[in-house]
Amino acid sequence: MIPASNLPELPGFPVSRLRRLRRTAALRRLVSDVVVRPAELVLPMFVREGVSEPVPISSMPGVVQHSQESLVKAAVAAVEAGVGGLMLFGVPASKDARGSGADDPDGVLNVALRRLRAELGDDTVLMADLCLDEFTEHGHCGVLAADGSVDNDATLQRYAAMALAQAEAGAHLLGTSGMMDGQVGAVRAALDAAGSSDTGILGYAPKYASAFYGPFREAVNSSLQGDRRTYQQDASRTVAEALAEVALDVAEGADLVMVKPALPYLDVLRAVADASPVPVAAYQISGEYAMIEAAAERGWLDRDRAVVETLTSIKRAGASLILTYWAAEFANKELT
Ligand code: PBG
Repeated sequence: MIPASNLPELPGFPVSRLRRLRRTAALRRLVSDVVVRPAELVLPMFVREGVSEPVPISSMPGVVQHSQESLVKAAVAAVEAGVGGLMLFGVPASKDARGSGADDPDGVLNVALRRLRAELGDDTVLMADLCLDEFTEHGHCGVLAADGSVDNDATLQRYAAMALAQAEAGAHLLGTSGMMDGQVGAVRAALDAAGSSDTGILGYAPKYASAFYGPFREAVNSSLQGDRRTYQQDASRTVAEALAEVALDVAEGADLVMVKPALPYLDVLRAVADASPVPVAAYQISGEYAMIEAAAERGWLDRDRAVVETLTSIKRAGASLILTYWAAEFANKELT
């Protein structure tokens, strides 16, 4: 420790003082660059078959599995709050090996889509998760081959059937989240052949095998044993693989692509946003939600500031739109 009297003299005052523009809230507002708009937020929602009241999801405080009735009410409220879209997930009462509920017009997700479309028309963008894991008894995103592996091409047939059911039910955008090779092309071809060329595709590319999907398993009553590493991406790969996934989805007809999860992959998001010819979404997933809610519950961080900071970071990294479980609540708040 050098005694203060022995410190060398400072060479005059700093020439640049970046603190000047941080001094008042008005100055900070004046020069702020990245502001998230409510219309860029999409609310993911769960609808469960056979319940008359919403069922709380314990690992996602504030998020519920809706009944058909409560779903409509909550969706209307979210749209009134100003959110840009809704992403729907179905939780069927019974599951089987091929996920039959997924393409059944009377399946929980398709019924909900039809009701919401009738209620909301084109006032909001209605999106549907196009994947089998919510509907299969084994919890995988596709159908299984005899050896227990996920059968890519047999799954594409199921996705095509599911796409037709969702388009017929009124979804504007289908979120191809299963990470099967060729899924966007298969869905696009099926839609076009059925005359649904106006139904768009939100390609989940890149999508990583992530621990942060944890709470989602509870949200959809998933019985998944094992993991999804044979089809979702490995976090240790370079961004080049992510760009290859994006290029394929775009070539196959994706109208938007989505990076997922968001916060642990902001570098990937930036690279995709720089390279993608189509708009780029990011999904702040269940585990990202849960960790902030849990820490806030313990008084360990300021919840609202943490939420706005993460949303701002995701937008700064290049997302044009953000799927977040906080969409409806924060559409009503000052997002700076
Ligand atoms: C697949 C799908 C998942 C999520 C969205 N679509 C689960 C998975 O890939 O394991 C996760 C969303 C979240 O965790 O919030 N149907």
